[in-house]
Amino acid sequence: MASAGILGTGSALPKKIITNADLEKMVETSDQWITERTGIRERRQAGPDETTSKLSVQAARKALEMAGLKPQDLDLIICSTISPDMPLPSTAAFIQAELGARSCCAFDLAAACSGFLFGITVAEKFIRTGSSRHVLVIGAELLSRYLDYKDRATCVIFGDGVAAGVLGAVEPPSGILAEELHTEGAYADHLFIPAGGTAKPASRETVEGGEHYIKMRGNELFKVAVRSMEDVSRRVLTQAQVCPEQLSLFIPHQANQRITEAVRERLGVNPEKVYSNISRVGNTSSASIPICLDECVRSGRLKRGDLVLMSAFGAGVTWGAVVMRW
Ligand code: UT7
Repeated sequence: MASAGILGTGSALPKKIITNADLEKMVETSDQWITERTGIRERRQAGPDETTSKLSVQAARKALEMAGLKPQDLDLIICSTISPDMPLPSTAAFIQAELGARSCCAFDLAAACSGFLFGITVAEKFIRTGSSRHVLVIGAELLSRYLDYKDRATCVIFGDGVAAGVLGAVEPPSGILAEELHTEGAYADHLFIPAGGTAKPASRETVEGGEHYIKMRGNELFKVAVRSMEDVSRRVLTQAQVCPEQLSLFIPHQANQRITEAVRERLGVNPEKVYSNISRVGNTSSASIPICLDECVRSGRLKRGDLVLMSAFGAGVTWGAVVMRW
């Protein structure tokens, strides 16, 4: 049976940059605190015309071009997002129409920061069973639309961004070697948006109370994130029979540079093998890993034949890891 691999990647970032100095003017914080506690120096913020679907289409076109494919070649489109254009219909539907893809299956997937790994794992099943030849997986987040720029616990870490991967069959030993995904809903209230859904529909009161903004218990999540990413990374490495020394690259979800460092150290991965762009883009949730992937592919940091480990953690809480030979 053929393996599933990533044939092309692409990313798109909003134009506007929000620096730590900009945030110093909005909330009681400092460049020093943000840099030392998170590793972030700047992040992007989408303008009114930059929607989740529009940026997704830009990223998807680049990924398709790298893969040497046309939109009509796609059999499945998965948009991983918790910041869709609108509650109804799916953002994947807008992407499909704008790309000019045929009426293939297209849907959104909600797994927050672990979303791209959830997406490529689903795509892998469709490819390996032969039901899809080419699958577009997008990680797209405009979390700035849900940020309270008076809440220093959240507005300093999240940024906007989108990235895509086109998956298809590849010859072994290339492709996805091992994957594992988890959700633990007992921690759902650690990172959530209280209002705007069916549990608490949007109203004047919810808006006045700021309940349409992201609420996060960052410190508690920090510890769960480190433990979960370490544990699931070890498990997929064992499953794939790969030891940390064999890895060419480790791409963790860019949640916080201190989380990355803690996971790296626990796994015993050499610092030079860890990719980090958090200082430039912040935490872009489901777009974080594919933006890194795209940067690594385009800069030559990730080459065909390399072994790469990707590991993520996010709201839900969700977590997962994938080992692949590029
Ligand atoms: O994306 C996946 C899901 N999300 C995560 O995994 C996020 C994980 N959590 C984190 O990245 C970190 O917990 C944060 C960056 C969010 C916060 O860093 P922390 O080191 O855990 O800070 P803390 O919440 O324990 O707060 C420490 C102190 C507090 O002051 P006191 O009580 O010690 O006086 C906070 O009020 O730092 C204060 N603080 C800030 N100070 C300046 C919290 N945020 C800020 C800020 N600027 N932006």
